[in-house]
Amino acid sequence: MFKDYPHKNKILKNQPNTIIKSLADKSVLEKEFYILKFLENLSFVPRVSNFDGKVFLEEKLSGREMIKDDLSEDSIKELALILRKIHLLDILPSIKKYIYNDFLIDGKYQPVSIMRAILKEVPPQIIDKHEDVLCEIARNIESKLKNKNYQVSLIHGDLSLHNIFFQKDDIFLIDWTDCRLDISSCDVSQLFYLLDLSHVQQKIFLKHYDMDYIDDEILIFHRLLLLLHDLAHSAIKGEMLDEDYITKLSLECKIFYER
Ligand SMILES: Nc1ncnc2c1ncn2[C@@H]1O[C@H](COP(=O)(O)OP(=O)(O)O)[C@@H](O)[C@H]1O
Ligand SMILES: [Mg+2]
Repeated sequence: MFKDYPHKNKILKNQPNTIIKSLADKSVLEKEFYILKFLENLSFVPRVSNFDGKVFLEEKLSGREMIKDDLSEDSIKELALILRKIHLLDILPSIKKYIYNDFLIDGKYQPVSIMRAILKEVPPQIIDKHEDVLCEIARNIESKLKNKNYQVSLIHGDLSLHNIFFQKDDIFLIDWTDCRLDISSCDVSQLFYLLDLSHVQQKIFLKHYDMDYIDDEILIFHRLLLLLHDLAHSAIKGEMLDEDYITKLSLECKIFYER
């Protein structure tokens, strides 16, 4: 779940009104097609058609990828309402097989197993100092969630500016290859992290998103996982590890404990 799988040759042809999409992994292509079909009555996803096992057609949006300067109060509100809608959808049984997530047990999020899985991916010399604290944080989140009433739901799973499209004043979410069944706060935290939303912007988002199980602790927990994911990713690619990340990570742990 934490590895970034590059999706090779996604866009085969870029025609005036249609995009022909394909992927090396046909099961991921099939998943994206059927999820977009499932969502087709919603105004914020592109229409798709003609899946033949190898390619499908996707409505070409006339707008552009979002940029940070587009993040006005109105667009943050719209993003919050879009995510709220997705996260409250009833999932059809026929769709469940495409978004299956083996980290869930009895439909519940498993912070401790997820933390352990991601810690295995990060070079031990970095994790050594932090492992106990990180596992304790995961255990705390797990016991807190036991008393909270939350549902896992369809989440987009890849909310970067590249996958948020602006067409006139409307927002669209594209690129559903990483969607899955999960606790919906994952999407929220990823959006905050990748769009680098300020504290004020996060507050605006949360006011409109309005899901009462979400609190600072769960958001900080997901943020830690995202930081660890980036660390693991740099290590897998053989890149130099960014000291900045390591400092950030320690700081996040500290903040968590000093609250
Ligand atoms: N339906 C669409 N309409 C217009 N542009 C699109 C559409 N789908 C994708 N694109 C453009 O192509 C880029 C890559 O497509 P995407 O589906 O996000 O694949 P990936 O990120 O896996 O390469 C997007 O960031 C966007 O700029
Ligand atoms: Mg993309």
